[in-house]
Amino acid sequence: MQKSKLFIVLSWVVFAIACSSNANKYKPSDHTKAYADEKALTLMQNTCFSCHNPDMNIDKRLAPPMFMVRNHYYDSLISKEDFVNKIVSWAMNPNDSMSIMPGAVRNFGMMPKQMFKEEDLKIIAAYIYENDLESDAWYATWEAHKNKANPAK
Ligand code: HEC
Repeated sequence: MQKSKLFIVLSWVVFAIACSSNANKYKPSDHTKAYADEKALTLMQNTCFSCHNPDMNIDKRLAPPMFMVRNHYYDSLISKEDFVNKIVSWAMNPNDSMSIMPGAVRNFGMMPKQMFKEEDLKIIAAYIYENDLESDAWYATWEAHKNKANPAK
């Protein structure tokens, strides 16, 4: 066989092996719900959890954990659209007249106004609507997410 032909055949073999071994690894594609959830969770971790930390055993809590916020805003009758609108308008501009958590305001002071991107808030709010942040299943997801982001811990 000519050298160049051998090279082509070999490259093909290497390529085929690389593809088949990759196929066994679970890697959510852009279109899966798992991928979208992962993105939303990372967004919420970076923009909300510094204050609304979901872990119960932290020393200095700056705000109620997000599941408590969800419990005040969520009920089985509220539409996703209404829920998202309420959370987004609150986060864009927190103010006394909109608050439905007077106890939290007393304990922690008002949530400070921050520069959030509205499109990020919409993703976060939809995620909060769809996921029961109080459930064991969600906590397992959260633990897995943290370990993936920071495997040393
Ligand atoms: C710098 C700290 C901080 C960050 C970051 C933060 N919050 Fe808050 N948030 C608070 C505090 C403190 C409260 C409780 C007092 C209050 O309700 O204003 C609160 C309350 C809330 C409430 C309940 C409002 C009410 O009183 O009815 C919602 C909804 C909320 N936050 C959403 C969010 C979302 C969504 C994010 C992320 C995009 C976020 N917060 C990020 C501090 C924060």
